[in-house]
Amino acid sequence: MKHAPRLALAATVLLAGCAGPQNYMSTGGRAARELADLGWPVLLGFSLVTVVTWGLLFWVALRRRGSFDEHAPAEAGGGQRWILVGGVAIPVAVLSITFIATLGTLSTFPMAHAAMDEPDIRIVGHQWWFDAEYLPGGSICGGDPSQLGSHPASLPQGEQASLIVHSPTEVHIPVGVPVEIEVETHDVIHSFWVPKLHGKVDLVPGLKNRVRVQADAPGVYEGQCGEYCGVEHAQMRLQVIAQTPEDYVKWLNHQREDASVAAAAAQVQAGRQVFENGACILCHTVRGTAAHGLVGPELTHVGARQRIAGGVLANDTANLEAWVTNAQTLKPGSAMPSLRQFTGPELRALVAYLQSLR
Ligand code: CUA
Repeated sequence: MKHAPRLALAATVLLAGCAGPQNYMSTGGRAARELADLGWPVLLGFSLVTVVTWGLLFWVALRRRGSFDEHAPAEAGGGQRWILVGGVAIPVAVLSITFIATLGTLSTFPMAHAAMDEPDIRIVGHQWWFDAEYLPGGSICGGDPSQLGSHPASLPQGEQASLIVHSPTEVHIPVGVPVEIEVETHDVIHSFWVPKLHGKVDLVPGLKNRVRVQADAPGVYEGQCGEYCGVEHAQMRLQVIAQTPEDYVKWLNHQREDASVAAAAAQVQAGRQVFENGACILCHTVRGTAAHGLVGPELTHVGARQRIAGGVLANDTANLEAWVTNAQTLKPGSAMPSLRQFTGPELRALVAYLQSLR
C-alpha cells in the first residue's frame, strides 16, 4: 500500500471540493435540491457505466489468445450480442430513464409562468457586474416582516419609484420565502448562477427570464456569471445573502434611506467634495446627493457591502484605494477608469467618504 498516502491526499482534495461554497451537489434551497436529486443518481449511474466500460477495455487489452494466423479465417459476425446489448439496449435504457427524469425535474421549475407574479427583484447583467433592483410591487418588499410573501396594494407611480433600491453584486433575500427574480441584461448574454440555490439561467438581450429562489437557512451563497461574456467574465461574481425576515426587512428599510453625512467627520465631508467635484458622479448614484450617474453601480450604501469591483475584492480600505486608482490593472476593460489625479489626502478622504455610506 505504498500509494496510500497519495490516494488519501487525492481523496481529501476531492472531498474538500465537495464542501466548496459553490458546490451544486450540497444544496441550500429547494430549486437546487431538485437539481441535485437528479444530479446524484445521474452522476453515480454514469460513473458506474464508465467503470464497467474501462474494465471491459482492460480485459480485452490484457487477455492474449494467439495470433491472427491461428484464428484465420477470422470469425465474421461474432460478438454481435455485445453490440446489441452493450451498444444499443443499455444506452437506450439509460438515456431514456435520464431523459424522463429530466423532464420531471424541468416541470418543477416555474420559468414558463412569468406572468403569474410581479417579480420581487430584477437582476440586470452588465459587463462585468450584476445589479439587483428591489421592486416595490413584489411580495418581499413591504416594510413589515409578517407581510413577507403577500403582495402590497399597488402604489402610485411616484411613490413606487422612491421605494426602488439597488444592491449591486449583493442580493439580500429573506429565508424560507420564495423570491421571484426577473433576470435581464444591459449588454451581452450573461448567466445568473448561484449553485447552492439554483441552476444557471441566462440573461439574454431582449428577454426577461425568471428564477424562483428560496434559501433554507441564513447565510451567504456565492454565485457568479455562468456564461462567457468578455474578458472579465471570470471576475463577474455575486453573493446572495439570506437573512431572517426581521433582519431582511431592517436591511431593506435602511437601504431605502438616502445617504447622509451631515454629522460626519471633516475628512468624510472633504471626501464628499472630492467625490462630487470629480468624475465619480458622471457614472455613480448616491441618493440624497448630486450624484445621479447610471453607468456604474449605485453607491448610496456601498460602505455596508462585503465586496466591491463586481464581487471580486473585499470591501476594505486598501482595495477601495486600489480600485479607485488602478481599476484598469485589477479588472482591465471594465467601465471603471483608473483615476490617478487625486493627491494622497484626497484619495484617503474619498475612501473615508465611501466607507461612511453605510
Ligand atoms: Cu457575465 Cu460572464
